[in-house]
Amino acid sequence: MATSITYRSALIYELSIFMLYGRHYSSRYRTIAELIPPNSSVLDLCCGPAVLYERHLRQKPIEYTGLDINEKFIKRIARLGAHGQIWDLRSDTPLPPADYVIMQGGLLHFLPDASPMVDRMLQAARRQVIISEAIRNFASSNAPLLASLGRWLTDPGTGRHPLRFTERTLDDFFTAYAARVDRSFLISGGREKIYVLNAKVTGDE
Ligand SMILES: C[S@@+](CC[C@H](N)C(=O)[O-])C[C@H]1O[C@@H](n2cnc3c(N)ncnc32)[C@H](O)[C@@H]1O
Repeated sequence: MATSITYRSALIYELSIFMLYGRHYSSRYRTIAELIPPNSSVLDLCCGPAVLYERHLRQKPIEYTGLDINEKFIKRIARLGAHGQIWDLRSDTPLPPADYVIMQGGLLHFLPDASPMVDRMLQAARRQVIISEAIRNFASSNAPLLASLGRWLTDPGTGRHPLRFTERTLDDFFTAYAARVDRSFLISGGREKIYVLNAKVTGDE
């Protein structure tokens, strides 16, 4: 199945994200990068063309691995000098371990029940899981044309994903992880919300 135009090249992807986030484009990635201390390993799921690595993590001593279903994006990571692997995250294969396991703008692909995905992230993380998800988007617009455009533009080749998070449904989703939530806050002018989860809760081990 073909991917939507947004995912056909790194340039088109970056332009689309830039158009969507405007002046918040850079801070969208920078905020996540600031949560990751030097000398740690990062597993970035649904990493796309690895803009986070290229623009914000590459200058730090970080061991970065990106996983994505998109072959073009993964080839680009190798050219950037990091490690990437084509991986369909719908499979329940255990994830490679890392200090920080992150996912930005990817959780919607695992709806209606994203908890098996988050559980696998927690199993792989030695320190924290960082998830940032859009809570305002076209695909859940009341305008049918905008909504269908939004869904069409975010098909990674696995079919259109009609479901999206709102701030309320995202907060509801993470109540099941309340014991692990370190903090949560809005970024990108309120378009996205970050949840930081501790891999271990007090009393573990
Ligand atoms: C909105 S992009 C986010 C990219 C990057 N994290 C960012 O914020 O710039 C979503 C990414 O999820 C990937 N993706 C969607 N479904 C996937 C799956 N089942 N397995 C692995 N990657 C998937 C797509 O190929 C795409 O690169």
